[in-house]
Parts: sequence; structure tokens; C-alpha cells
Amino acid sequence: MKPRSKKPWRFSHFQRRVLKAVIHLIATGYLVALFYLGVNDQLGPDPVDALLNETGIWAIHLLFVTLLLSPLAKRLPSPEPIKFRRMLGIYVFVYAIAHFFTYAFFELQLDWHLLTSELVKRPYIVVGMVALILLMALTVTSLSVLRRKMGKQWQRLHYSIYAILPLALLHFSWSQKTFWQAPIFYWLIGLIIMRGRITRTAAKTVKRLKAYQ
Ligand code: HEM
Repeated sequence: MKPRSKKPWRFSHFQRRVLKAVIHLIATGYLVALFYLGVNDQLGPDPVDALLNETGIWAIHLLFVTLLLSPLAKRLPSPEPIKFRRMLGIYVFVYAIAHFFTYAFFELQLDWHLLTSELVKRPYIVVGMVALILLMALTVTSLSVLRRKMGKQWQRLHYSIYAILPLALLHFSWSQKTFWQAPIFYWLIGLIIMRGRITRTAAKTVKRLKAYQ
């Protein structure tokens, strides 16, 4: 019997465009609906808190999906998941920046003096800020022209996506004042998604250490 050729599976151009349009519709639609309901006082007793929670948690959900795309591409195998990586990565940033704006506009009311005391009182906000700055750097440099210009530096910078996940999870757990309940599940999901990369990095480190001996 002839061995079956392992041709990578692909979407047609049309299918890919439809799927991207659906993702845009859901991701933008949900954010617009959240702010519409929040501004019109229809998000429960504390709309600012609800907005903060929803934008923050969905930034993490989208980050999970973005990080799953590379292992998925290898597993299928197919180049298709990678074609959605940039788009979903940008939505992680959009939700995270919406989360920051909610905090700055609605909670702080743009009182920047208050921010200083907040940073001392709630240091997890500093962790969130570091994650947001890294996300911003990745989003800005996701432009093809910058990718070409930056060469090898681009790849190095984009590895910081693996630092953003633990930073975001630390910020989340700290804001909840516990690692138990919801945060522990998120850490577990994060570990499962990162398991391949963690084992590869550990193996490389062991190899390097052995080479030095
Ligand atoms: C400048 C950056 C950031 C600021 C100022 C900020 C601010 C805050 C604040 C004040 C809370 C507490 C809300 C509460 O008291 O219930 C919070 C919670 C949270 N933040 Fe952030 N954050 C930032 C960045 C991020 C980023 C980058 C992510 C994710 C990628 C994130 C995800 C979350 C999550 C998941 C929560 C918990 C929401 C919940 O209670 O369910 N934050 N953040």
C-alpha cells in the first residue's frame, strides 16, 4: 500500500478571510458591548469593577489562545494557526489597554498623584504595567516592515511573550490576594500550554551545563 502523503492541511483564502472576520466581529463586538453596557450602568452594581475584571480576564484568555497556536501548528501539522497569531496577539494588547484605560479613566479619574500611592499600596499594578509595556512593544513591532528591519532582534524581543504570561498570571493572582480558587486553574492551564517550551528550555540548559563541566 502506498504511504499516505502528509500534506499540511490548509484553509482556502476565502475560508481564512471568513474565519478572521468572525474573530474580529466577536473580539471587537464583545469589547464594544462591555463598554456600552458599562457606560449605561447595566453591568451590575459596580460597572467599573466588572469592566476591569472582564477586560483583564479576556486579555489572559486571548493570551492562552495565542500561545496555543504554535504547538497546534506543529501537532496538525499546518501553517494555518500561525496565520492567526499576529491578529490574536494584537487583541491581547487591545483588551489589556482597555483594562488599563478602565483603571486610569474610571477608577483613578486621571488623577496621576493617586497612581503613585496606588503603586505603593497595590504593587501588583506595577507587574501589570510591565506586562502591558511588553505587550505594547510586541504589538508595535508586529508590523512587517519593522520585523524585516529588526532581523534577529525581532525574534529575541518576541520571545518576551513567554515572560508576559507569568507576569499577567502573577498580577491576576496578586490582585485576587490568593493563588487558590480561579488563579490556580489559570496557572495550571498556563503550565500545560507552556509544557513543551519548558521541557525544551530545561533540556537545553542541562546540555549547556554539561558542556561546561
Ligand atoms: C498598566 C497595566 C495594568 C493595570 C493598571 C491594571 C490594573 C488592575 C487592577 C486595579 C485590578 C484589580 C481589580 C479589582 O480590584 O478587582 C486588576 C485585575 C486584573 N488584571 Fe490588571 N492591570 C494592568 C495590566 C494587566 C494585564 C496586562 C493583564 C493581562 C494580560 C491584566 C489582567 C488582570 C486580571 C485577569 C485581573 C483580575 C480580574 C478579576 O478580578 O477577575 N492586567 N488589574
